[in-house]
Amino acid sequence: MKILVTGGAGFIGSNFIHYLLKNHPTDQVINFDALTYAGNLAHLVDVQNDPRYHFVQGNIADQQAVERVVSDYQVDSIVNFAAESHVDRSILDPDAFVRSNFVGVSTLLNVVKQLGIKKFVQISTDEVYGSSRDGEPFTETAHLNPSSPYSATKAGADLLVLSYYKTYGMNVSITRSANNYGLFQFPEKLIPLMVTNGLQGKSLPIYGDGHNVRDWLHVRDNCRAIDAVLRQGRPGGIYNIAAHHYEENRQIVQKIINRLGLPQSIIQHVSDRPANDQCYSINDELIRHELGWQPMVDFDHGIAQTVDWYVAHEKWWRPLLAAVHNR
Ligand SMILES: NC(=O)c1ccc[n+]([C@@H]2O[C@H](COP(=O)([O-])OP(=O)(O)OC[C@H]3O[C@@H](n4cnc5c(N)ncnc54)[C@H](O)[C@@H]3O)[C@@H](O)[C@H]2O)c1
Repeated sequence: MKILVTGGAGFIGSNFIHYLLKNHPTDQVINFDALTYAGNLAHLVDVQNDPRYHFVQGNIADQQAVERVVSDYQVDSIVNFAAESHVDRSILDPDAFVRSNFVGVSTLLNVVKQLGIKKFVQISTDEVYGSSRDGEPFTETAHLNPSSPYSATKAGADLLVLSYYKTYGMNVSITRSANNYGLFQFPEKLIPLMVTNGLQGKSLPIYGDGHNVRDWLHVRDNCRAIDAVLRQGRPGGIYNIAAHHYEENRQIVQKIINRLGLPQSIIQHVSDRPANDQCYSINDELIRHELGWQPMVDFDHGIAQTVDWYVAHEKWWRPLLAAVHNR
C-alpha cells in the first residue's frame, strides 16, 4: 500500500507511522503534516532515512497541496490524523479547529473522490458522543452530542465523511477511540503535562474536583486497531476503540505522583473547564467481533513505562515547552 498519513508528525500519527513501517515491510508511507506547534519531526528521526518513508510539509485544507502529494506519490489510501486536538485551545480559538478539523476533512474528501483513492480512514474520537450520564457505554449508532468546539468539529467531520459513503459510495471508515496515552504526546495533555510539571517542580493542576472519568487506551493498541480498520474496515463503517480502563483524573495524577515520588502538596485544584464532560464511555464490541481486535497493553504497566519515558527524554520535551511559551 502507498499510505498518506496526514498529521503524521503528531502524537498518534507518528506512533502509527512507526507501527506501519515495523509491521508492513512493503508499505510506502508519506507523512503530510503542517507542522503546527503539535507537529514535531523529532518523533520520526529514527525512520527519516528509511526509503519507505517520505515527509511533505503541507496543510490538509490546501487542496492543491493535497492533490500534488497524492499524485506525486501515487497514494492509494489516506489515514487522517491531522487536527487541532486540544480541547482547551478550542475554547480559546474555535475557528482554527473549524479550519483544520472540518474544512480540512472536506478538502481531503474532495481529493479522495476526484483522484479515486481506494480507502479513506478518518480518525475521530469518543468525545463526539458527549458525556455518558450513567456510565452506560455508547455504541456507534448513538446520538452525537459534542460539548466543546473541538468535539463539535470532529462530529461535523464524521457526518461529512459518512455523507461521502452514502452519496458517492466511497470507501471511507471512521475510528472513534478513547483517550490515548504513550510516547511522544505533547506536554499539554493530562499525563505528559503532569509528568513534565512534576519534573520541573511545578504544581499539578487538576480541573474541578478531579472526578472526571476517562477510558485510557495505550497508543500502540489504537495503532493496531486503526491498521485493522485501514485494511479490513467496512465501507461506511464506524468503529469505537475502547480500553475499558476507567480512571478519574485525580487517580491518574496520584499514580504519577507515586511513580515520581512527589509530595501530595504539589496538587493544585483549579476551576473546571467550561462544559467539561463528566465521563466518556464507549462500547467496542463491533471492532472486537468484526475485525478481531482487542487491547493488549495493561494500564499500570503502560503508564509506568510512559512516565519513565518522559523522565528519560527531557531533551525531547523541554524545547517543546520553550517553543510554546515563546509564541
Ligand atoms: N490524543 C487522543 O487522546 C485522541 C483520542 C481520540 C482521537 N484523537 C484524534 O486523533 C488525531 C490525532 O491526535 P493527536 O493527539 O495525535 O494530535 P496532535 O495534536 O498530537 O497531532 C496533530 C498533528 O496534526 C498536524 N496538523 C494539525 N492541523 C493540520 C492541518 N490543517 N494540516 C496538516 N497537518 C495538521 C499537527 O502538526 C500535528 O502533527 C486527531 O484527529 C484527534 O482528534 C486523539
